[in-house]
Amino acid sequence: MEDIKDIEQRILEEVSKASDLKALDEIRVSAMGKKGEITEMMKTLGQMSADERIETAKKLNLLKSAVEEALSKRKDILENEALNAKLACEKIDVTLPCRPETQGRIHPVSKIYEEVAAIFGELGFEVAEGPSIEDQFHNFNALNMPLNHPARQMQDTFYIAHDKDKPFEMDDAYVVRTHTSGMQIRTMENKKPPIRIIAPGRTYRSDFDATHTPMFHQVEGLVIDKTTTLAHLKGCLYDFVKAFFELDDIPVRYRPSYFPFTEPSAEMDIGCLKTKTELKIGAGNDWLEILGCGMVHPNVLKAGGIDPDEYQGFAFGVGLDRLAMLKYGIPDLRTFFESDVRWMKNYGFAPLDFSSLTGGLSNNGGQLR
Ligand code: DAH
Repeated sequence: MEDIKDIEQRILEEVSKASDLKALDEIRVSAMGKKGEITEMMKTLGQMSADERIETAKKLNLLKSAVEEALSKRKDILENEALNAKLACEKIDVTLPCRPETQGRIHPVSKIYEEVAAIFGELGFEVAEGPSIEDQFHNFNALNMPLNHPARQMQDTFYIAHDKDKPFEMDDAYVVRTHTSGMQIRTMENKKPPIRIIAPGRTYRSDFDATHTPMFHQVEGLVIDKTTTLAHLKGCLYDFVKAFFELDDIPVRYRPSYFPFTEPSAEMDIGCLKTKTELKIGAGNDWLEILGCGMVHPNVLKAGGIDPDEYQGFAFGVGLDRLAMLKYGIPDLRTFFESDVRWMKNYGFAPLDFSSLTGGLSNNGGQLR
């Protein structure tokens, strides 16, 4: 029979050469498993004489512990190696630039939406969302535009029949909302003052040229509290345009205007410089209309279930697409919705750049060109 010392040497050598955990386990089984080499040798003890048995059992026990120790040490080493190999291949270099292979782009309207939400979010506004298909109560009546009010005609409304099997009744048809102002009413219905919301969304009118498309985007703003004044409106919108155009200062003016749902009403202009080839926002001799605003009409508060003797507020409405055209120098609105990949490559934004007031709104005008 092979000497026990030789057996030990042979097994220990095999253990030290085991290249992975699976190979190591095979060695363990072949030495100490139920039918393993050492186990089989243990079984022969019973046939030995007493002296021989004591002597051999001692040697076999020593062999067993030597093999067990070697197996356990080798196992530790192999486990460590396996872990290191796994970590090495899962390693990410956080200093690498973001996904250079990224093909997708964020649409300028989505980008502007994020920017506007970031600014008003910082000013304590919540974002409210509502339906594209609206009833005439929310889109018109509750906004102080009763049936036959001339302003209803100005909006080039798309009407939708309630029931396709009945004759079309203009007066109770649904509409695809002509503006986001209906969200003023929906918000008042669902929320008690103080209210401070913006409501961005799609809006629809039957209109089509370089600056009008049948579907476009607006953001509505609504603030209602007991002491909200025109001064708050002016301060809030001034802060907004400065933050939005990323300028330290910007001339603004308010022109008296008319909207049925606000009294008084105004249009806000910002200063700019228009040359034959360029439009520069900021100081200059020209003005650019940017949004409509005013103090919420008492009839609108009433329609929203709010007591106008106790509360007052201001509202504003901004065209998101128009803001995108101005900020990012995009000349034709129709191109926004043509889904042309080349256009998106030119005017779109990197998907992983988030807008925030602290980290940068437009990420330094970060269109990927
Ligand atoms: N709804 C108006 C429009 O679509 C925009 C607007 C003007 C909204 C004045 C307002 C406001 O909230 O106060 O033309």
